[in-house]
This record gives sequence, structure tokens and C-alpha cells, in this order.
Amino acid sequence: MAAEVTRAVGVDIGGTGIKAGIVDLEAGRLISDRVKVATPSGAEPPDVLAAVTEVLTVLGVDDPDVPLGVAFPAIVKRGRTLSAANVSDKWIGFEAEKFFEDGLGRDIHFANDADVAGVAELRYGAAKGQPGLTILTTLGTGIGSALLYEGALVPNSELGHVQRAKHERDAEAYAAYSAMEREQLSWSDWAKRLQWYYSHIEFLFSPDLFIVGGGVSKHADQFLPLLNLKTPIVPAVHRNNAGIIGAAALALA
Ligand code: BGC
Repeated sequence: MAAEVTRAVGVDIGGTGIKAGIVDLEAGRLISDRVKVATPSGAEPPDVLAAVTEVLTVLGVDDPDVPLGVAFPAIVKRGRTLSAANVSDKWIGFEAEKFFEDGLGRDIHFANDADVAGVAELRYGAAKGQPGLTILTTLGTGIGSALLYEGALVPNSELGHVQRAKHERDAEAYAAYSAMEREQLSWSDWAKRLQWYYSHIEFLFSPDLFIVGGGVSKHADQFLPLLNLKTPIVPAVHRNNAGIIGAAALALA
């Protein structure tokens, strides 16, 4: 059956919203509406499961034969979530993949949200055919990262948690899009923070390309031209849908 499957469902669980859609895997694009619900406050496992169930029902994809990929904003190793920056601490060391499979009554593919966005851009977007090292970052509630080297993903890079030594804060607390919203920064003030962040990552990794994803990437023209980097920096082709598309793509991997 798998050889004939050309569509799958992707669910992208974020710190603020849970987004889902049906994806055409040949074209790498959404062929349904994009369904979104708010991430339940506190993001406790049973509440997140209920919200995922809801988006699948709204999409009309309760059929367990449709491949399903789920992306989550934490380190994911062999189906277990190992961190919890913007969700409940209950996810730390939690058998999350099994929890969703039991709760949804179907098999899933489960991975980190930024990593799946990286896979989407690798297969269908800005990282396709790129030589060397591409670093995709998502600027949202947190900062997520995907390291893409010569067409392969190096998973769980967590570059949103590099430390700002002087300020004793993670990079994401200072430079994520949520910091801009919380502190009501102008584009240019936020861009100064991004300048620090991307210069630091550039120094650490000497990448060949940066890709910027997350919801704010649709406003890339407001802040990317303000950055002064040696490395080219472009918005994700699939903008904030990269997580949905990548999660769906992994469901058939
Ligand atoms: C998490 C990452 C995640 C990123 C974006 C960070 O706080 O640690 O795992 O990819 O937020 O959601």
C-alpha cells in the first residue's frame, strides 16, 4: 500500500498553536484547509492529546489508514520527549509517541517540530539541493533549529538554547518572535537581537545558508534585510506550513 500513498496528515504541535493539514507528498503542499487550535494552557499531555484529536476530527481524517506525522516542540529521541521548554514538564522523559498512538488508536511518526520543518524545506523548499551546511531556525514561541548537511538531517540540535552568558537567558527568551511580542519591540529593535543571535550561530557553525521559518517568516521583508551576515539568509519557502508538510512527509519515511 505504501508505494501508492501520495497523501498524509501532518500535525504541528507548537507552544502556542496546534496546526494540521492534509499534504500531497508528491507536490509537498497542503491540499486541505489548515486547521488550527490553541495549544491548551499548561500543555499537559492529556489536554494536548484532546486538541490533536480535535484537529483530526475537524480535518475529517479519523481513518487510521491515512499516514500521520506529529511534530512536537521538544527533543524527541526514540519516541520519547526529553525536554519541555514551552510545554508542561510532564513531557520530560515521557513515552510521547506511544501515548499519542494509544490515545489516537493509530500509528504515528513523531519528531521535533523544527527538524520536520527542516525536512520539508530539504525535500520541497529552500534547502533542496543545497551543498554544505544549511541551518533552519524557526522563530516562534521558542527558537527551533534543524541542521541539514548535504541533504541529511542531524536531529535535535536545540540551537534556541544557546546561552547569552551576560544575561543568563536562553537565546530564545531574548530573540524568539514571542520576545518581540511580549516586549512590544519594533522590527528594528528585534532585528538587533536577531543580529546577535545569527552572528553567534554563524561563528559557531560557519553554515552555507540560513533558512528562517515560523509564522513571522511571512514578514521576512521587515527584518531579514536589516541583518548583516556573511551567510545568505532566506525565509522558508513553506513559511509556517513547513512543520505540517514535514511531519506528513515523515509519516511515510
Ligand atoms: C524547544 C525546541 C523546539 C523549539 C521550537 C524550543 O524551546 O526546545 O525543541 O524545536 O522551541 O518550538
